[in-house]
Amino acid sequence: MIFLYYSTVDGQTKRIAEKIESVLKENGERVTIKEIEEKTVTDDYTFSGNDKVILLASIRYGFFPKKVYRFVEKARLANVSCESYFIGVNLIARNVEKQSVENNVYVRKFLEKITWQPTKVKIFAGALNYTKYNFFDKKMIQLIMKITNGPTDASVDTDFTDWASVKEFAESLIAE
Ligand SMILES: Cc1cc2nc3c(=O)[nH]c(=O)nc-3n(C[C@H](O)[C@H](O)[C@H](O)COP(=O)(O)O)c2cc1C
Repeated sequence: MIFLYYSTVDGQTKRIAEKIESVLKENGERVTIKEIEEKTVTDDYTFSGNDKVILLASIRYGFFPKKVYRFVEKARLANVSCESYFIGVNLIARNVEKQSVENNVYVRKFLEKITWQPTKVKIFAGALNYTKYNFFDKKMIQLIMKITNGPTDASVDTDFTDWASVKEFAESLIAE
């Protein structure tokens, strides 16, 4: 069984998880997909050696949500006997050089704070959904984009996710 757990705010990480789910299912894999929610993180998790666990989470103002850390702890990811994967979603990764752990400050710091050492870490760029942000977020993101040479036109949404790369990742999980 392949377990996909994701934390999302605006839905992009959910879309990435669902893309992985559909590629896996098309290839005959058994998949369970679940959103991480604060109130359900107390669940008991049991994984066996042949399973694969994938955790996906998006960044907001520099941090992954606390529930993601709680999930890592409650699911005892540091001690699982199966393959485990972490996927970080953020906007700085729209620049290819920020798609490595060393260069992606959020993912690097996340991994430094936990004892879990995933089998593999992937970093995907997320989406810039100006038209859906509230006033405050729109202004803040515009400021961040200005500083980092990104798009600042708040009437245009941009999907920076490399969907071919998401598909490629999913295909890499298919049993031989
Ligand atoms: C309020 C807000 C704050 C964000 N902060 C950051 C940030 O600090 N660094 C970054 O690279 N991306 C940041 N992002 C970009 C998100 O990580 C990106 O939009 C991602 O696709 C969101 O995924 P989700 O829709 O699954 O929540 C921010 C987005 C929003 C809306």
